[in-house]
Amino acid sequence: MRGFDSIERIGVVGAGTMGGGIAQVCAQQGYDVVVRDIEQEYLDRGFSNIEDSLDRLVNSERLTREAADAARERLTGTTDLADLVDCDLVVEAALEDMAVKQDVFADLDDVVDEDVVLATNTSTLSITTIASATDRPEGVVGLHFMNPVPVMKGVEVVVGERTAAEAVSLAHEFAEALGKETWESDDKPGFVSNRILMPWINEGVRAFDEGVATKEDIDRGMRLGTNVPMGPLELADHIGLDICLDATQTLHEELGDRYKPAYLLARKVDAGDLGKKTGRGFYDYE
Ligand code: CAA
Repeated sequence: MRGFDSIERIGVVGAGTMGGGIAQVCAQQGYDVVVRDIEQEYLDRGFSNIEDSLDRLVNSERLTREAADAARERLTGTTDLADLVDCDLVVEAALEDMAVKQDVFADLDDVVDEDVVLATNTSTLSITTIASATDRPEGVVGLHFMNPVPVMKGVEVVVGERTAAEAVSLAHEFAEALGKETWESDDKPGFVSNRILMPWINEGVRAFDEGVATKEDIDRGMRLGTNVPMGPLELADHIGLDICLDATQTLHEELGDRYKPAYLLARKVDAGDLGKKTGRGFYDYE
């Protein structure tokens, strides 16, 4: 299995919020990065978000302009998965849909050298099931970044049924090389982070829907009362209500009624009010 020391070129599948953020932090740390998405339009949007994020880091003096420009230079985009052929590590951050992920992993298995580790940024889906689409299940590992990736310190390493110890070590070493700190989870639904975070968000939605308090007081209460940076409703808007609903539905299917999505969460997703990204969720955004 290709070790941490030989990693120079990273493939990232998906140029959305998570894929773009992962590509950005890899480029900031000096890795060459090839980002693949299925449409040029998605790549353009992803690269524009990366440029905005690099500008924010420069404006808040966390990064020099030279370092931001150098990071941008290390990033290339493609719509052809075959362009990931020379990558030493791939991080997949495509849609949270098992069929899509299995297709991507089966294709990656053909494109990328057999000793290359394939990581997935899945937030709730089974690493073991994703890995079963490949001939290298021992080289498939969960590398779950938090949003916004350039700012959040933590990365969750998820160990599938067949994941080899070398792939797990590489995942920790790589995340640490990106300036992150890691924790490890077994491949159980939602891992550590979303198994605990999603019911918290879901209960916040229920509390709002059942008239326990205003949305502002629910968020304020949790911020002031438990010292979290965001309350459940503003955090749901930040993550995306569609992502929260998908994750909660997966937990509900796997773990039963205690994870049943709140009615209002599904109603808002049906209405297309997905949070910040559509300009409206529990709050309105300009
Ligand atoms: N790129 C670069 N810089 C960014 C950024 C981005 N995308 N987003 C925020 N920043 C920077 C800002 O420029 C600002 O920098 P300075 O302090 O140096 O000026 C700093 O981060 C703080 O941002 P803001 O002042 O805009 O706002 P804030 O203080 O409220 O922080 C936040 C924003 C970092 C998002 C903070 O509210 C927070 O930590 N919220 C909780 C986020 C969280 O829990 N994320 C995990 C969600 S779960 C998940 O991702 C997993 C899953 O599977 C669903």
